[in-house]
Amino acid sequence: MNMPKFQTYGRRCILVNGNHKNLSGKIDISGSKNASLPILASAPLLNSRFLLKNVPKIQDVTTVFNILEYLNVTIHVKNNCAYIDSSSSFTSIKRPIPYDLCQKTRASILFLGSLLSRFHKAALYYPGGCKLGFRPIDYHIEGLKKLGVEFYFNGDLIVAKAKKIKGTTFELPFPSVGATENLIMASIFANDKVTLMNASIEPEVVDLINFLNASNAQIKLYPKERIVEIYGVNPEDLRLKTPYTVISDRIEAITYAVLCASLGGELLMKNVPLNHIGKPLDILRSIGVDIRKLDEKSIIISSQLENLESNLEIVTGPYPEFPTDAHPIFVPLLLRANGTTILKERVYKDRFQYVNELKKMSANIILNEEDRSIIINGEQKLHGAKVRATDLRGGMALMIAASYAEGSTIIADSDQIMRGYEDVILKFRSLGVDVYEC
Ligand code: UD1
Repeated sequence: MNMPKFQTYGRRCILVNGNHKNLSGKIDISGSKNASLPILASAPLLNSRFLLKNVPKIQDVTTVFNILEYLNVTIHVKNNCAYIDSSSSFTSIKRPIPYDLCQKTRASILFLGSLLSRFHKAALYYPGGCKLGFRPIDYHIEGLKKLGVEFYFNGDLIVAKAKKIKGTTFELPFPSVGATENLIMASIFANDKVTLMNASIEPEVVDLINFLNASNAQIKLYPKERIVEIYGVNPEDLRLKTPYTVISDRIEAITYAVLCASLGGELLMKNVPLNHIGKPLDILRSIGVDIRKLDEKSIIISSQLENLESNLEIVTGPYPEFPTDAHPIFVPLLLRANGTTILKERVYKDRFQYVNELKKMSANIILNEEDRSIIINGEQKLHGAKVRATDLRGGMALMIAASYAEGSTIIADSDQIMRGYEDVILKFRSLGVDVYEC
């Protein structure tokens, strides 16, 4: 436990003084949260030392570090580099991963796959994370059973065992990100080919595959068909010799692009994963936001509020469709643009808790729970209020709305936001938004 820890957060709140107009400045997009978490969770697979670059300093990453430390993996962190050693001291697991750690992040469930591969056994508790309604793990369990894993459940405790992981074909009922990642990690040393059908092809899943292949795994991805084939390798051969750089965070990139679009002004964005945000950028363009590409990783966003118009139907879906995590983030922009937008949520059953919080700021949003959609009439004036971050992206929607609302907003439970955005207060302030932690 001698590593310099990333900062951790308790229950906090954020004060935003609104009325901010004409944003201007420059933002560097951080490393991807959702790519770093599975790559870190795969550390038990690599019986070696390796270096990961571009790891964001956020609470969810700290929690996964804590789980790795519990498993006797040694971690040293400097800036955004994580030096990881999962070889010498890492022998076996005697007790389940502690309940508190499992509850802090949904990513804890990803240790099922990596521990099963390394030790033929895994014990942990049902995961926590963003409260987006009931988030089952039945696809993970079903897929692992197909690979020959046996389960024992006791309350929230999950114990999984497998003498060997056998080759098979499994079709996911939905292209679940976490289930695809877990099944890839569980199959890495399988005795025969494992084929995953209807797999997630989110950029973060591809980054995990690229990381594992850079470590001598043999994983083939057929994105158009949504098929992943895993050919088991010898555990001794799985090593990463050269440092691996995690991709940039596409949802953070979308967040700052939408912030600029909603406030008006001009923003230079660097380290942008342009290949991963095609759909949201197309939608921003169609609303009237100007996006100029400077090079492969840099863009300038310019927005004039009087030019914003949205009469769209936006539907979330698995990549390359519009990301569900961008859904709440777009809402403050749609509240400002002229026109009426319908936004349909098709990944989660219940992702609308943040709507009630925006209503406290005078937003008029029509929620149709049966259809899992909202209707937003634009050109609305919002007012500061006392609100609560119900989840990570819902919390960010409040931060963006509070930046242009009249008056001040206090966002309680802001640790939800800190969980997933690196240096969010500093970054907002660097763009002139008057925001404080309290
Ligand atoms: C990941 C992301 C999260 C994002 C989500 C969808 C991480 C750490 N988190 O979460 O930010 O919002 O992908 O892009 O990468 N489902 C089941 N049974 C299962 C698994 C999933 O019913 O066993 C359902 C979920 O309830 C949800 C949908 O499938 O409705 C998608 O979930 P999934 O892709 O698994 O999301 P996560 O991997 O948890």
